[in-house]
Amino acid sequence: MAHPDGFIDLRSDTVTHPTPAMRRAMAEAEVGDDQYGEDPTVRRLEEASAEKLGKEAACYVSSGTMGNLIAILAHCGRGDEVLLGDECHVLWYESGGAATLGGLPFNKLRTDRFGRIDPREIADMIRIPRAGYPRTGVLCLENTHNRCGGAVLHPDYFAGVKQVADARGVPVHLDGARIFNAAAALGLPASEVVASLDSIQFCFSKALAAPVGSIVVGSSDFIARVRGNRKLVGGAMRQAGVIAAAALVGLTEMVERLPEDHRRARRLAEGLAQIPGVTVDLETVQSNIVIFKPDPAQITTEEFIAGMVEGGVRVSNYGLRGLRMVTHYQITDDDVERALRIAGGLMESRSVAPVGATVA
Ligand SMILES: Cc1ncc(COP(=O)(O)O)c(C=O)c1O
Repeated sequence: MAHPDGFIDLRSDTVTHPTPAMRRAMAEAEVGDDQYGEDPTVRRLEEASAEKLGKEAACYVSSGTMGNLIAILAHCGRGDEVLLGDECHVLWYESGGAATLGGLPFNKLRTDRFGRIDPREIADMIRIPRAGYPRTGVLCLENTHNRCGGAVLHPDYFAGVKQVADARGVPVHLDGARIFNAAAALGLPASEVVASLDSIQFCFSKALAAPVGSIVVGSSDFIARVRGNRKLVGGAMRQAGVIAAAALVGLTEMVERLPEDHRRARRLAEGLAQIPGVTVDLETVQSNIVIFKPDPAQITTEEFIAGMVEGGVRVSNYGLRGLRMVTHYQITDDDVERALRIAGGLMESRSVAPVGATVA
């Protein structure tokens, strides 16, 4: 697909525009009032999503942030503590919503480079009943792990964590914004990846390329509470079938192609790693995300971004982690090669003369 504004946009898979099939489905969507449970397209989307993830029920929401927030609220009582990793999206990029709106303090645990929290640390940090201790309300994990370069967590890891959490009666929620990328990378059905977990939020508006929406899945009782919370935060919708129709196309037509994005991300990462002055942790590049760092002695992050934009390529700033590129359905093999050429040229133009070299 041509780039709508002429740029190769690698900032995120959220930049994707709806496919022609999505636009057709939106135009023709059957709709009703979703707050009466009467929107047939939303109902189809919720049923299909719950089935794909092997859970009882689902609730369609406007964003991943809202999905995580109302799922966490549904697991916790006021004042409960939320256990989460120190690199997770909920902690970094979701305005501290559960703490601010729900009165739920965050307790962050160390995350390894593959997005995992050591189950022994989780066991140590789940509170025992004692005056002064908050009750541990929920444990949050993330798959694929965005700030860990799209690393993929395995269902065996989840099963181990769940055993620890179950022993103390703590539910486990997954921020599975890119759960189908994780499933594709593992070569497993998504339902198998999340089988041991209590609730999952996943996004239609990322690698699945839909314009709007995420969904929360879990048991029927839990989803009834999530639905109540969605209303509480002003997120209940009416004729939402118009957007749910595009999400359904994402779910049915865009999952199978994800390995293509992963292959391109791999090529990007390996190409970047060959550019002198660029560091990439290749082991963590397991899906459609590449996090890399140009040598700050050669070029600042801002200069790198500006240089790439001049060459027609957008990348995003990941602060101390460096920079991020994400592949998606609007990125072709040629785009990847072009991005690598621009990055290579930029670094070469900033290369530091070797120590002892004479300048003529
Ligand atoms: C891992 C992860 N979780 C949650 C979200 C939040 O999704 P939204 O932007 O729809 O609120 C994102 C968004 O980029 C994400 O990458």
